[in-house]
Amino acid sequence: MKKIIVGVTGASGACYAKRLVEVLSTQVEMHLVHSRTAPLVFHEELGVNLSGWLKEHKVKVHGISDFLSPLASGSNQFDAYVLIPCSMKTLSQVAHGVGETLLTRIADIALKERRKMIMVAREAPYSTVHLENMLRISQMGGIIFPASPGFYHRPQTVEDLVDFVVSRVIQLLGLPQELIKPWMSEN
Ligand SMILES: Cc1cc2nc3c(=O)[nH]c(=O)nc-3n(C[C@H](O)[C@H](O)[C@H](O)COP(=O)(O)O)c2cc1C
Repeated sequence: MKKIIVGVTGASGACYAKRLVEVLSTQVEMHLVHSRTAPLVFHEELGVNLSGWLKEHKVKVHGISDFLSPLASGSNQFDAYVLIPCSMKTLSQVAHGVGETLLTRIADIALKERRKMIMVAREAPYSTVHLENMLRISQMGGIIFPASPGFYHRPQTVEDLVDFVVSRVIQLLGLPQELIKPWMSEN
């Protein structure tokens, strides 16, 4: 079973994190750490109490300042780290190696240990600083995934748009997904 760490920040797009946890937590060993701002955005955008909601799922939650967590050391293996949604603040800290919280420390580990890291970045428009930070992370091996769905699957609902992004993240993790049919596939 793959060990996947999910990092949730206070960018807009709480729906992406919520859907990823719903779909993936039964398929993988899932660990999660969220920033101090993430609960605020969950409440504002979804009316959901993040901590209470997480208790209903098969997820091991780690505290944002818990440097005694096994996740704080590169000596513990994991298969991938997904930051979803990822704020420009967190992206900036990661681009510059600031491991101030467990959330950014895990990103630091992913980069130094050359492990898969996917950042579902959300802001519009991007400033030059945002773009430069994304380039830095991409050059270091991180995958920048803009939180922007495609429309070629003819979405009918907001949920269809969310599923587009989440399905592509799951594919990047090398896991099967049944949310969205690949383009021109027969099944
Ligand atoms: C409702 C709401 C939506 C936000 N959306 C974004 C966003 O899309 N992108 C972003 O970079 N920051 C956004 N912010 C601001 C971040 O929450 C803020 O910069 C915070 O310091 C990020 O910290 P974190 O990365 O530790 O969660 C939003 C804040 C709120 C309250």
